[in-house]
Amino acid sequence: MPEKRTVLVTGGCGFIGTNLVRLLVGSGGYHVVNLDALTYAANPLSLVDLADHPRYEFVKGNITDRHLVPALFEKYQPAGVFHLAAETHVDRSIVSADDFVQTNVIGTYSMLEAARTYWSGLSGERRNKFLFLHISTDEVFGSLGEDGYFSEETPYAPNSPYSASKAASDHFVRAYHHTYGLPTIITNCSNNYGPYQFPEKMIPLMILNALSGKPLPVYGDGSNVRDWIYVKDHCKAIQRVFENSKAGEAYVVGAGNERRNIDLVRQICDFLDEIAPPAEIHPLRERGLKSYAELIQFVEDRPGHDHRYAIDSAKITRQLGWQAEVGFEAGLRLTIEWYLSNLEWVKQASSGSYGEWIEKNYAWRALKEKK
Ligand code: NAD
Ligand code: TYD
Repeated sequence: MPEKRTVLVTGGCGFIGTNLVRLLVGSGGYHVVNLDALTYAANPLSLVDLADHPRYEFVKGNITDRHLVPALFEKYQPAGVFHLAAETHVDRSIVSADDFVQTNVIGTYSMLEAARTYWSGLSGERRNKFLFLHISTDEVFGSLGEDGYFSEETPYAPNSPYSASKAASDHFVRAYHHTYGLPTIITNCSNNYGPYQFPEKMIPLMILNALSGKPLPVYGDGSNVRDWIYVKDHCKAIQRVFENSKAGEAYVVGAGNERRNIDLVRQICDFLDEIAPPAEIHPLRERGLKSYAELIQFVEDRPGHDHRYAIDSAKITRQLGWQAEVGFEAGLRLTIEWYLSNLEWVKQASSGSYGEWIEKNYAWRALKEKK
């Protein structure tokens, strides 16, 4: 167990952040200060059980706040930063990129500036050991064809406003290391799934729509491929990098689970048929549906939809001995069971602006059958 060091986590109330904070406060033994603006993507229920934990502190605030962020560095004197706060949904970035530029680009810049000032004032071991870990995505590399993998050598080629904003933030992080020597590390991970993911993302959306008897909207022909990693495996990779890597490094992170979207949706339906048989679920029984797969509908494609993502994790395995531990089918079952057991969390996440946003902004994805 490492010594109980204080670290600053941004975006700790989001999907990956919630899982990471639990890992760091729990077996990691860290004292965690979680800075989160509580946007629509955060759920106050996610970390409610940690509220009184002696090694957890929550600060509601924005990473773009040029007074608050430096004050937090001063007050808590963190041994490092895990920077996760971001706007993360590609579909939202297509409707408007304003918040993505604000948070992902300007917010990251504000974090870097505050970290640089703070780190410049450190000395000795504290200065030598400080790390700014920037959590990014494989989407910055653009789209693969049928072959090949993303690695640390892949050139950046972002295609969506979301990935462009994340690419910009990665470049700022890299530049702060190169220019000022700020000890930074970047990780670019593939698609995560698991507990606490906001219901607008593919896997929870399919699970929750299915259980409510709503259509399962597969974009385009469903042939797009994503490389899935169970969120807790990603969090362990992040901890491993923070504790063992040296400044200036970058790692791509993935678990080698490539799936076509349509195959994944069918798999979710098969598991649900088994775990929550349609005959026992009111909205399905009412309509006489025998399988959740009957809800699948192909809809208008996402504009600029990247075809395939896939990761070659050889570097992080070779250098740091990290490997994903959770198989895809096992992780998917765990995820389905988690959502079934946490309907209060789902209700909270889906309340407020989420429903209105779906109504207002998803018109461009009119069902193909209706065209
Ligand atoms: P999320 O959308 O679930 O959560 C984002 C969190 O950041 C929320 O709690 C939100 O309140 C907070 N936040 C947003 N804007 C903020 C601001 N201006 N100031 C402070 N807090 C703010 O995101 P996630 O899926 O957990 O992703 C976390 C990070 O990991 C992101 O940087 C994302 O790019 C990266 N990532 C995500 C995936 C994935 O599959 N989800 C894969 C690779 C990398
Ligand atoms: P998503 O979870 O939005 O992640 P990302 O776009 O960052 O990869 O989507 C994963 C894949 O699922 C992506 O190819 C788009 C597709 N998708 C659908 O087919 N239907 C949906 O309703 C959603 C949300 C996504």
